[in-house]
Amino acid sequence: MRVRNKYRKSTAFPCNVGSRCSISIVVWSLVGFLLMLQIYSLISHRNTVSGDIKLRMSRHPLVRELEQVEEENIQIPPPRGKRSPRAAKRRPKRTTTLVDEFLDENSQIRHVFFPDMKTAIDPLKDAGNDSFYYYPGRIWLDTEGNPIQAHGGGMIYDERSSTYYWYGEYKDGPTYHAHKKGAARALGVGVEQWKSRRFMASGSAVNEEYVACLLRLEQVDIIGVGCYSSKDLWTWKNEGIVLTAEESNETHDLHKSNVLERPKVIYNENTGKYVMWMHIDDANYTKAAVGIAVSDYPTGPFDYLGSQRPHGYESRDMTVFKDDDGVAYLIYSSEDNSELHIGPLTKDYLDVKPDMRRILVGQHREAPALFKYRGTYYMITSGCTGWAPNEALAHAADSIMGPWETMGNPCIGGNKMFRLATFFSQSTFVIPLPGIPGSYIFMADRWNPADLSDSRYVWLPLIVGGPADRPFEFNFGFPLWPRVSIYWHRKWRLPSSWRVTK
Ligand SMILES: *[C@@H]1O[C@H](CO)[C@@H](O)[C@H](O)[C@H]1NC(C)=O
Ligand SMILES: *[C@@H]1O[C@H](CO)[C@@H](O)[C@H](O)[C@H]1NC(C)=O
Ligand SMILES: *[C@@H]1O[C@H](CO)[C@@H](O)[C@H](O)[C@H]1NC(C)=O
Repeated sequence: MRVRNKYRKSTAFPCNVGSRCSISIVVWSLVGFLLMLQIYSLISHRNTVSGDIKLRMSRHPLVRELEQVEEENIQIPPPRGKRSPRAAKRRPKRTTTLVDEFLDENSQIRHVFFPDMKTAIDPLKDAGNDSFYYYPGRIWLDTEGNPIQAHGGGMIYDERSSTYYWYGEYKDGPTYHAHKKGAARALGVGVEQWKSRRFMASGSAVNEEYVACLLRLEQVDIIGVGCYSSKDLWTWKNEGIVLTAEESNETHDLHKSNVLERPKVIYNENTGKYVMWMHIDDANYTKAAVGIAVSDYPTGPFDYLGSQRPHGYESRDMTVFKDDDGVAYLIYSSEDNSELHIGPLTKDYLDVKPDMRRILVGQHREAPALFKYRGTYYMITSGCTGWAPNEALAHAADSIMGPWETMGNPCIGGNKMFRLATFFSQSTFVIPLPGIPGSYIFMADRWNPADLSDSRYVWLPLIVGGPADRPFEFNFGFPLWPRVSIYWHRKWRLPSSWRVTK
């Protein structure tokens, strides 16, 4: 894009001097050529959107299965008498959507979103034809037969033990309803004003659809950070609670009445320590800080070092990302969740450096998950609608500190509602799959606000490749980066060759 702009101020007609004339002819031809190319790409793009899938299928043979497009045709049941308060609160009666059904604890199709224990993924029992299959949304049992408790999670691959460790919020307790007024005040707005604010990504068809369920009013006591280990990313052994809540000291960040979300662990090669960063808050979400903990072992116990407001700013949903060169970065939602901030950590990963950039300003994104492919940085984020699902967006940048460009919704398959609600889930992490270039697992949470401990995991294949399919918002043209795609599957597994090598 920049190249084209350079030529805009090119030499003018008329041309009496021979050499100058030929320069301007060359320049104008170039301008014309570039314009034609641009128009052509716009037109041909329209035609390739459907053919696009075929094009992508012909890529890496291991990826073909993961890229199959599966549709969903869920019939919304006819309206019944009473809806649960959560669904009834939602504004004027119009046609019920799948999201209404999702938010309705008494929905007749509840089992579609939250299948019961009978269908749980059980690595010990399912060994056989069903082994290694992920079923997004089903209860997932660990090797002791208990549902995995690792919400808002993150993953490391520990080279030293050749093992994956999955960390997340251990939420196995009752769900409370926090005070709505306190929560709204925490964000500096009245409840009504808060309800009327448009927190959905602009241009999204589901704008204002979820306004009745904006805040995270439902909470559980902090129990701690759960850790699970696996060699195959499917069979998970419970390694226990590696960072525990504080029972009695009410002034402690980890007191059970507070909030601990999105724990992420990275390994520091310099110090040989495992460092955990997490969102620390009070019940009102007014503290808006990050907490740091450290351990000599991936399985803990982690020592809590304290919390801070990074760079002096509010920090809510966050993640950390360790780059190939060993430099790690903190990325957090700030300024009432209206923008993200990014900045490098110190060499020991225990603090932030002063350097910070504001990214995706005014876009109201949270739940960031970063990954890198062929020198380009990618990020998946969600909108800010509390526990209710919304539309994911993919972003890309040549430099991790920005500028970051928004590429569009990465979701493919399911149906329109599935895609606009990120398959009824919210991003938390992206796991690289070494050996299959451009392939990742998208890790997301399907929150169950009525019973947060029963929130589910949605893991789906994420593939980088194929042409981008949405123009930049402010530029005339399409991004140079390949498309990021997350494919819906009711049931899927990693290619067998990948499983054998691990
Ligand atoms: C596994 O699949 C094979 C071939 O489809 C079938 O013959 C066999 O009965 C299946 N076994 C189980 C335990 O489902
Ligand atoms: C939450 O806010 C309310 C009202 O502002 C306040 O009384 C209460 O102490 C706060 N609770 C916490 C845990 O900060
Ligand atoms: C309670 O926690 C605070 C903050 O971490 C700490 O300063 C204080 O010493 C603790 N009190 C006790 C009695 O452990």
